[in-house]
Amino acid sequence: MQFDTVVRGGTVVNADGPARADVGIVGERITAVGEGLAPGKREIDARDRLVMPGGIDSHCHIEQVSSFGIMCADDFHSATVSAAFGGTTTVIPFCAQHRGDCIPEVLADYHRRAAEKAVIDYGFHLIVANPDEQTLSGDLPAAIETGVRSFKIFMTYERMRLHDEQILDVLMTARSHGALVMVHAENHGIISWLAGRMVGQGRVAPRYHAICHTRSSEAEAINRVIALAEVVDTPILIVHVSTIEGVAAIRQARARGVKVYGETCPQYLFLTARDIDRGLEGAMFCCSPPPRDEAAQQACWQGLKDGALAVYSSDHAPYRYDASGKLPKGEKTSFKEMANGVPGLELRLPLLFSEGVGKGRISLGEFVQLTATHHAEVYGLPSKGRIAPGCDADIAIWDTTRSVKISSTALHDNTGYTPYEGRALTGWPVMVLSRGDLIIDQSQSPSVIHAERGRGRFIARVRSDAAAPAGRRIAEVEQLAAWGDSL
Ligand code: URP
Ligand code: ZN
Ligand code: ZN
Repeated sequence: MQFDTVVRGGTVVNADGPARADVGIVGERITAVGEGLAPGKREIDARDRLVMPGGIDSHCHIEQVSSFGIMCADDFHSATVSAAFGGTTTVIPFCAQHRGDCIPEVLADYHRRAAEKAVIDYGFHLIVANPDEQTLSGDLPAAIETGVRSFKIFMTYERMRLHDEQILDVLMTARSHGALVMVHAENHGIISWLAGRMVGQGRVAPRYHAICHTRSSEAEAINRVIALAEVVDTPILIVHVSTIEGVAAIRQARARGVKVYGETCPQYLFLTARDIDRGLEGAMFCCSPPPRDEAAQQACWQGLKDGALAVYSSDHAPYRYDASGKLPKGEKTSFKEMANGVPGLELRLPLLFSEGVGKGRISLGEFVQLTATHHAEVYGLPSKGRIAPGCDADIAIWDTTRSVKISSTALHDNTGYTPYEGRALTGWPVMVLSRGDLIIDQSQSPSVIHAERGRGRFIARVRSDAAAPAGRRIAEVEQLAAWGDSL
């Protein structure tokens, strides 16, 4: 067979580890992986390079209005260009329902904007803020039918949060239709009560954001939503886990057979609350939950190693350090008014590679699992996340020796800063292929992008095993069934 492209002589890394192999591509797909493949019409020299699946970032906010009502700084073009430069070839951002929004209109709007601008492939999750009867029995099943197979719900944020009964309703709908529910788990009462007191005392600097979002607020909410999910035997994924207690709660629930998955993000591995404690500039590090301390970082690394945390995503939530984002009232902005979130699409993979693989914390196979393969498995993307015949030719070719000093001026998102400014990283994705197209070439200077706006495609996701009920009801619910009742 004549290949359109052969990526030759590299070390291919999949979830099960590295192996020397060439990769043959025909059209958009990988058709062969093995040594000594026949010549391709185009040859890409990957000697001394790692050939890895392009990253899948399953948690990022793109061209989305936040729960604070603020539009983020990246549109589908700038965000996906930035992701691609960082070795990511698929993103799953959110279509956000705010209260009063009609879900079919929300979905159509995001589809239109992404289709015009995205340069890499994308799926969607749906944020559910108003689970009324129309949403539960009409709009969510219809969204799932179109391949939007995951919802995000919030336990905090005044304008987004759901009460326990509403959470149970969403979980039951997801269970019936094979969708996965992602949960932002923080106890709203603790945070808002503390914040009220802080603001009342004039303590409004960003550092109070970290103080109000206590470890206990994350721990309580994770334990509570696990209990809710257990009642209805519905899988859940806890996003942006940041605490020792949160990781432990997920690990314990998994050990007793609950289908709960965890996610962490660069900010919980590489930042601490001290980064927020630098006056107003701390706003650039404010996200929810906030970065914690070294012990919590350690717990997150351990969770990534032992499976308590299945995926590593960016939670890219880009807001500029000006009146459009972090500082709506300029220097007088209180921590309650600034947009929450940090950028991370482009640096997610280089940070984990340098600090994780480079420093011996995780293996190459684990790197691929955490950045691509597990995302594909959990969220139902069978053609992504692996280098294997039949898969999309989404490939990042890494130079493991390239040293890079992080500077926001070299990044491609619209945030205008990075929380990782000045850090020295080793290892960089120098070439990126998306469905067989070489879209990024950073092997020489200046780097080149060959990716037209709108070339990215919507990927309708399939029902994943991760979203299937465990078939395990807690004793009280079994008792109901024994009495002939059901939920
Ligand atoms: O602070 C964060 N994480 N902002 C983005 C919205 C969210 O909760 O994920
Ligand atoms: Zn969240
Ligand atoms: Zn988020």
